[in-house]
Amino acid sequence: MRRFVVVGHKAASAPGFSLKDLAGTGGRLDILARCVGAAMLVSHGLRPDVELVTMHLGPPSPPKAVRFDSSRLQHANPDERSSALLLEKALGTGTTGPVWQPSTPGVSVAAIGLEELLDGLREPLVLLDESGEDVAGAALPASATYVLGDHLGFTPEEEAMLRARAAARVSLGPVSLQADQCITVLHNHLDRR
Ligand SMILES: C[S@@+](CC[C@H](N)C(=O)[O-])C[C@H]1O[C@@H](n2cnc3c(N)ncnc32)[C@H](O)[C@@H]1O
Repeated sequence: MRRFVVVGHKAASAPGFSLKDLAGTGGRLDILARCVGAAMLVSHGLRPDVELVTMHLGPPSPPKAVRFDSSRLQHANPDERSSALLLEKALGTGTTGPVWQPSTPGVSVAAIGLEELLDGLREPLVLLDESGEDVAGAALPASATYVLGDHLGFTPEEEAMLRARAAARVSLGPVSLQADQCITVLHNHLDRR
């Protein structure tokens, strides 16, 4: 299983944002919406056995984690708006606890932060980091959780926590990429192994 976790530091944690202005009113929700397509979709279909968790740490009711499971996902389309709609529905379930609550098929939501999320995962954690080991030579596990930052990267506290937990820190190359681009590049790297 490939799992991606993307941390949205300002990302809306409840509906109320405009689907026409995800970047502004959604607190860069556009980044997370693009990650849904990059993680889940291939040409004319869904990837098997992939999970994406988007972390919503912005107002009004953080933290929220939204989980996409490609083996059960429905209503996923390549456009950003469709992904944002799935996020909006999940955030609108009104969940306040740590138990995953389903919203639409293949999408669920819990009121947990990054550390609590990682506490509940078994697969080794791989931190995507521009200064990490080059992915070309890295021995990546068959199943892993890959953690990415958003436009703000990671806070110093997150960075310390992630480094302490990570089995590896991996770079996808010398150029700093967008989070969704990282997912696409990494999928391609893993597909070729
Ligand atoms: C837009 S980048 C973050 C840029 C942010 N200004 C910073 O300095 O951290 C978003 C995330 O994608 C991942 N990332 C971007 N480029 C990468 C690369 N070349 N190799 C590995 N991870 C990368 C990192 O996890 C990063 O936190």
